[in-house]
Order: sequence, then structure tokens, then C-alpha cells
Amino acid sequence: MKCVIGLIIAAVCVPVIDAHFEQHVLPNFANTYQYRPPKCNKFQSRRPSVSQQQFTSQIATGQWLSLYSVLIGTPGAFGKAKHIWRVSGNTVTRTTTVSETTCQRRIVNFTLGSDRCGAALLREVSPGQRFEVFYSQDPSKYFWWLICLTPDPTSGSCISGFFDLVVKDTRTNLTGDLNLVGLPWDRIAADLRAIRGITFDNPAVTYVWTGTECPNP
Ligand SMILES: *[C@@H]1O[C@H](CO)[C@@H](O)[C@H](O)[C@H]1NC(C)=O
Ligand SMILES: *[C@@H]1O[C@H](CO)[C@@H](O)[C@H](O)[C@H]1NC(C)=O
Repeated sequence: MKCVIGLIIAAVCVPVIDAHFEQHVLPNFANTYQYRPPKCNKFQSRRPSVSQQQFTSQIATGQWLSLYSVLIGTPGAFGKAKHIWRVSGNTVTRTTTVSETTCQRRIVNFTLGSDRCGAALLREVSPGQRFEVFYSQDPSKYFWWLICLTPDPTSGSCISGFFDLVVKDTRTNLTGDLNLVGLPWDRIAADLRAIRGITFDNPAVTYVWTGTECPNP
């Protein structure tokens, strides 16, 4: 009988300790995200990284749409956005079209690298400050995209930016509907929990594929 009780306690205790650990490490993503951690710790290594090779062969080929967004700090206005990345040597050029009051086209150059856990990391070519990191279990279909507009230079945390769910644009024309049914939602939701410690029912996770669509970048 003692054995049975012991097993039950162990089964209950382990998830509680795990949840406490995650909350302790990530109470608030905006204030704690380290893009240059001194080493890749056990918690960070559980994040589903996109490698540099995957970034080049899978992300920097198609066109991508921001579907959901989680704000970091107060990054300012944004709208329905489409993106392409193109790699040339060690340089990556991102072109985004975004619907604000009118359609805006934004081009940013980056240097391709990786963070200490092996996730593709783009740093804006000087004098820019921004950096971006890519996470996915299936970068042919989707990725979670950390866009840090304002890094804190001393702590390495992110003061303002976005954390977006981005999906590949598989439509044959602009009026076609997005095929959200074909996406691996179980993996997408697991990544959100592993990286940010939140679930889709959190009001911070906002559907942003709404409003006017701009021409392709
Ligand atoms: C990005 O890099 C390309 C190629 O070096 C250059 O022609 C372009 O002016 C750069 N654009 C920006 C916005 O820095
Ligand atoms: C646009 O795509 C949708 C869905 O893929 C399709 O039903 C529709 O016929 C297409 N329209 C044109 C003009 O090709």
C-alpha cells in the first residue's frame, strides 16, 4: 500500500515542479528573453529551433503570412503583413508589405547567424538594432518568429517587438482562402507553450490576418 501511495504522489508532483520551473524561467517573455544566453540551458534547448540550413532552404524560398501575433512591450501599429526572405551569401534581405493606413513596403537587410541553441538568428545590418529568431517543428509550413525591434543592450532582453505565428502562403491567387485546416496545429500550439509558456486561449495571442491585403512583396 505504501508503494502505491508513493507512486501516486510522484505522478502528481512531477508536472507541478515542471510548471513551476517554466513559470520561474519565463514569467514575462518581454523581460526575460535572452538572445545571447551564456550557454544553451536545458529549458532553452527544448525550444523547436529552425537551423540556418532550414532557414535558407525552406523559409527563404516562399512567401509567408503573419497569422497570429503576441506583442512584446508596445511596438506600435501594424496590419495584415506578408513577407519574403532571400539569402545571398551571409546576407538576408526581408521584404514585407503591410497594410496600415495605406500599403507599406519595408526592406531590411540582416546578417544570418544562429543563437547558442542553434536557432537561426538574423541581426539587422548596422546601424540597425533589431534581431529576429525562428522556431518551428516544420519550417516547410509554419514558424514562430521573434521580431525584436528594441533590444536592451545591457541585459540582452527584448524591450519591444512581436512574436508572430507565420504560415507559408500556399494560395494560387490573392482571393483564395488560407488553408488553415492543413496546418499542424498540435505542433504549433506545443511550440507556443514551449517557447512562451502560454496557450492560444490567452488574450495576448491575437489573430492578425484581418483587414485589407496588400500586393505581394
Ligand atoms: C540591402 O542590401 C542591398 C544589397 O547590398 C542594397 O542594395 C540595399 O540598398 C540594402 N537595403 C537597405 C534598406 O539597407
Ligand atoms: C483563386 O483561388 C481559389 C482557391 O484556391 C479558387 O477557388 C479560385 O477559383 C481562384 N481564382 C482565380 C481567378 O484563379
